[in-house]
Amino acid sequence: MSAPAVRYLLQTRAGFERDAWQEVEPWLLERGVETRLAELVEQGGFLLVDAADSQPALNWSTLAFTRQLCRVVADVELGERDRLTPLLAALRSRGTPFGSVWLEVPDTNDGKSLSGFTRKFQPLLEEGLTAAGLLDAGSRRRLHVYFPHKGRAILGVSQGDEAAPWPMGILRLRMPAEAPSRSTLKLAEAFEVFLGRDGQRDRLKEGMTAVDLGAAPGGWTWQLIRRGIKTYAIDNGPMKGACDGHPLVKHLRADGFRYRPQHPVDWLVCDMVEQPARVSDLIAAWFVGGLTRQAIFNLKLPMKKRALALRDALDRIGDALDAAEIRHTVAVKQLYHDREEVTVYLARVGGKTRGKRG
Ligand SMILES: C[S@@+](CC[C@H](N)C(=O)[O-])C[C@H]1O[C@@H](n2cnc3c(N)ncnc32)[C@H](O)[C@@H]1O
Repeated sequence: MSAPAVRYLLQTRAGFERDAWQEVEPWLLERGVETRLAELVEQGGFLLVDAADSQPALNWSTLAFTRQLCRVVADVELGERDRLTPLLAALRSRGTPFGSVWLEVPDTNDGKSLSGFTRKFQPLLEEGLTAAGLLDAGSRRRLHVYFPHKGRAILGVSQGDEAAPWPMGILRLRMPAEAPSRSTLKLAEAFEVFLGRDGQRDRLKEGMTAVDLGAAPGGWTWQLIRRGIKTYAIDNGPMKGACDGHPLVKHLRADGFRYRPQHPVDWLVCDMVEQPARVSDLIAAWFVGGLTRQAIFNLKLPMKKRALALRDALDRIGDALDAAEIRHTVAVKQLYHDREEVTVYLARVGGKTRGKRG
């Protein structure tokens, strides 16, 4: 590739940089866009990717391992004393103003040590940008100022929903005191990321029914019952706290791979720790059997070749649903509250679930 048309800055969970590349490279190549890895530091929390064409463009929402994404406009070396002047100089030559500015750092221990600096620097930068005529609340362009360390700023731009709507792609949520486990934050984040505010209002309604496979102690179940959704909690382990004996919880000590509801339910959620292929086959069987129209589930990935394992798991679902002529939409994300896993949202599109079963 001669000069790339675009350089992307991708932020990841530390340790997943190569997985992000192994996902992005085939995505671009399959669409006829030549690409190369420009920079990747293992455990660094980011990578730079060059693409020979700016279209089709990478988008945060379609990439599982990419938490945040922007197009790089400058890469600036910074001195110890005056960091503002070189940044403003690099941005002035770019002209058009930005609607907002986000200071971002790697989600690593080194990155965390920069947060004091970025907090102080943010108002200074905004003041400088305003004075230079580079901030305009009406603009949809967002400026990302990414500090791999204090001596370097990678300046990037994103627009609209091509990037995560939260700085560093991290949705911070408060742990609800009543929820029986911290896992509750995973499902809360999944609802925000995959459904958005409007989607949650339309798709998570009082009076609906759900099945939670691998439910104990009840963090995911709690997210459902707090929205008035009757939940069949399947687990040999005990439900705890607010989920133990709650009128909307029906706890069944059964094997999540064998259990099937008597009637279709509105939601299937699954957090069982199992082989991704086994979980995907199970979820696919529920859709093919007409037992649910939408599901959120976790895939615990192996230590190596995670992008490949993920692709295989998604192919299994896609193949099974295609064979049954079930139109569907799928989205995958390694959420902030996920660790060695990704969360998948799968929904049937159009048509009705087949009749009752059981
Ligand atoms: C990560 S924990 C689930 C945590 C839960 N989502 C929460 O928010 O509290 C995994 C659960 O899956 C359950 N599990 C594993 N294999 C299972 C199976 N075959 N059938 C039912 N439950 C299973 C385990 O007992 C365990 O409680």
